[in-house]
Amino acid sequence: MISVIIETLREAALRIDTLLKDTSTSYLQSTNASGDSQLEVDVEADKLLQEMLLELPCVKGICSEEQESIVYSKNTQAPYLIAYDPLDGSSLFDSNLSIGTIFGIYNEELKADSLIASGYIIYGVRLEMVIAQEQVLHSRYNGKVWKNLGALQLQSKGKLNAPGGTQKNWESKHKAMVESLFAQGYRLRYSGGMVPDLHQILIKGGGLFSYPATSDAPQGKLRKLFEVFPFAFIYEKAGGVATNGKKRLLELGTENLHDTTPCFFGSTYEMNLVKEVYE
Ligand code: AHG
Repeated sequence: MISVIIETLREAALRIDTLLKDTSTSYLQSTNASGDSQLEVDVEADKLLQEMLLELPCVKGICSEEQESIVYSKNTQAPYLIAYDPLDGSSLFDSNLSIGTIFGIYNEELKADSLIASGYIIYGVRLEMVIAQEQVLHSRYNGKVWKNLGALQLQSKGKLNAPGGTQKNWESKHKAMVESLFAQGYRLRYSGGMVPDLHQILIKGGGLFSYPATSDAPQGKLRKLFEVFPFAFIYEKAGGVATNGKKRLLELGTENLHDTTPCFFGSTYEMNLVKEVYE
């Protein structure tokens, strides 16, 4: 059944990729459930995913970063709920940087330990997809078919540092931690898109992505169900670590669909540093 969902997401990837090639880069008047301004493509990609996923007999419902509540299908006995961010990083769309779709497939309930598969589509120079189940499989569309590129695995230490959020709003301990990585020779790699930034760390074998609590966003910016849990699942399956500084992200509860959390993803060396600083 999961394979049917994955096939549908592959098809959706092709359709969204086509949509991105010929859609306005201007903002609509509307905002989403978190108050972010919406682009026409945010709304179009959301509609497309909702329609395609709700048609599947194994899907009980969907919830999208762009919508307030869960939308249920007719299949009340179906097991799966799919949470997704249809176009993450869409503020990068006008500058033609990579953006992505993030999804989590939850069994019966929308909670971290019900996640059974997750992944993302990256709309970049090439169209690629990463899906985590037991392994983290990477594939690329070559214009005709999806080609399997093999499993992604993090090494124990990397070279990249991707620190999110506005620096003037960081806590001093966070600032010191980021600076200590640069002092060790880490290179700054941060585009402002969670998908390309975390993808780059996976592809290069390691590093740290952080989106901490900040004075203007004490619970961080990134949403648990649509962004944080799916990437935590991917990073753990790839041999990495994903925490809020104190606890595994996949052990956190959720009260509301659009809850956010501070989050850190990386390989073991960098995540040990996070632990030292935050615990
Ligand atoms: P948006 O979809 O509004 O462009 O937000 C992108 C998200 C996420 O993809 C990225 O990691 C983070 O916001 C970047 O936020 P900062 O600019 O605050 O670092």
